[in-house]
Amino acid sequence: MAAPPLLPELYEHRWLGLAVSFIALYVGYKIQAFRRLSAFGGPFGVGFTSIPHSWSFLTGRSHLFYKEAIDAYGPIARIGPNDLVTSSPELLAHMSAVRSSYSRGKWYNRATRYEPGKDHVFSELDEEKHKRRRQQMAHGYSGKENLSLESSIDTHVSELINLVHTKYLSTDQYARPFDFARKIQYFTLDVISQVGFGEAFGDLLADEDVNEYVKAGQIGLTVTTVGLALGITWFLQLPLVARALGPSEKDVVGFGRMIANARALIRKRLERETDNRSDMLASFVRNGLNADELLSETVLQIIAGSDTTAAALRAIMLYLLSHPRIYTKLQAEIDAKALEGRYQGVIPDSELRKLPYLQAVIKEGMRMHPPITDSVPKRVPDGGDTVSVDGKSVFLPGGALVSYAAWPLHHSKAIFGDDAGVFRPERWLVEKDEKKMSEMNRTHELNFGYGKYQCLGKPIALMEIGKAVFELLRNFDWCLGKPEEPWREHNYMGIFVHSNMWVMATERTLNN
Ligand code: HEM
Ligand SMILES: *[C@@H]1O[C@H](CO)[C@@H](O)[C@H](O)[C@H]1NC(C)=O
Ligand SMILES: *[C@@H]1O[C@H](CO)[C@@H](O)[C@H](O)[C@H]1NC(C)=O
Ligand SMILES: *[C@@H]1O[C@H](CO)[C@@H](O)[C@H](O)[C@H]1NC(C)=O
Repeated sequence: MAAPPLLPELYEHRWLGLAVSFIALYVGYKIQAFRRLSAFGGPFGVGFTSIPHSWSFLTGRSHLFYKEAIDAYGPIARIGPNDLVTSSPELLAHMSAVRSSYSRGKWYNRATRYEPGKDHVFSELDEEKHKRRRQQMAHGYSGKENLSLESSIDTHVSELINLVHTKYLSTDQYARPFDFARKIQYFTLDVISQVGFGEAFGDLLADEDVNEYVKAGQIGLTVTTVGLALGITWFLQLPLVARALGPSEKDVVGFGRMIANARALIRKRLERETDNRSDMLASFVRNGLNADELLSETVLQIIAGSDTTAAALRAIMLYLLSHPRIYTKLQAEIDAKALEGRYQGVIPDSELRKLPYLQAVIKEGMRMHPPITDSVPKRVPDGGDTVSVDGKSVFLPGGALVSYAAWPLHHSKAIFGDDAGVFRPERWLVEKDEKKMSEMNRTHELNFGYGKYQCLGKPIALMEIGKAVFELLRNFDWCLGKPEEPWREHNYMGIFVHSNMWVMATERTLNN
């Protein structure tokens, strides 16, 4: 091809020219992106690149990355070119308020889809659809359309106690340490499968990871975290890629098997008369969810409801086992309640509420070691928003993503006092200042999110936690099996997973 007569020099270097223009455009874009949020301080480089943020996800330390950013740069810090993080309870509540015009971050919520192209309540980005879906499920989650909820939880609390009794009691003659992290996961999985599918996985009865769902959950969390960190969620969720690499319903074990089983259970339930049944699935059906939606939502429950509740229970127990003064005091409250003998079997939820020290221990355990530590970012509405934080007015540019930082929030000295860094359940009981107390309460509640995005499983989780702690302490004496390394912990995209939490249980002689 002949060069045009004009500007032959330029033509010769046309690729170079093109490249230079692209670089100039890219740099211009980067500078503009940098400047949009330049009012907010953050760790080195975060204005230009997501690498530090991604790295914190890949290394399982995002909660600490967020904490360092906030400690150094204030209650709203920058963590990426378009990303902020906050520990302000006011701002967190403002963003999720029922009438707020904020939405959710595609980056994070979309990554939790587990079938290409199909959304559940947490991955749904369309605000109207999300609202409608929540309304359809609210009754089922609250247990108001019955109620088999509480008895389902009781069944598995009894199985957990029974498992320790029959297989893992330590005696004067022989010590039998066991991994509490794992047994608690069996417990939360059995509860949530019973509640969601109407049929428990059966892990506690078998004392094993039936169908390898625990293992599958672990793989799922790892893949999702890597997808988030590398920004390749869109690729992983291409139908062809998902089919080739992801779980298949033909699998004998794992996530594919879980979906296949769930699908079969739902089909069976839909064919039968469900009007009469009084569980969550029946409530969802009555409120108009179709077979596909039922599948998405019930499988989401397994993901949303098992690791979270398990992490909370492990943290509460670890703090109890390492604080004898508090342990003894709680056990005394529990024994007194048990000796009253006003109920049979597992402690009813209504009685749990009458135990102030137990409630304070649960709040304090979740404060010291929040089970969900970060992200769940919210998107500032187009056009931006002016908010008030610590009495100062701050402008947040439209489209920016604002993440949640549990660590600095729940350990805030401004909210909890100078000893915020230590475990002292009494702080929830002795505070006289109403205003201070309600701020503490509000901060605790943020463990479950707020308003239009608040955790739907909160009542279920709290019921599970209260009953389990009560019965574990009532039936056994506990100690750590390996105090020099009480557990192993990894943070996957803001969710804690623990292993190797060795404990020993001995029989108690309380006659009741
Ligand atoms: C201690 C245990 C738990 C904690 C700390 C927890 C925390 C959270 C948080 C922080 C969110 C996100 C809020 C936001 O987007 O701003 C959430 C959402 C959700 N959780 Fe939980 N959760 C727990 C247990 C459960 C359980 C047991 C279930 C199911 C039975 C459950 C079901 C859900 C669902 C369905 C959503 C999505 C709500 C929506 O998108 O509107 N969670 N949870
Ligand atoms: C709910 O279930 C429990 C036991 O599963 C049962 O005793 C109770 O009558 C049910 N209540 C309603 C309102 O269906
Ligand atoms: C309700 O359940 C009972 C048995 O438990 C059954 O005989 C009856 O046909 C059911 N009725 C409706 C309307 O589903
Ligand atoms: C704080 O929460 C507890 C329940 O967890 C409640 O009994 C108490 O009244 C609340 N206090 C304030 C001041 O909000």
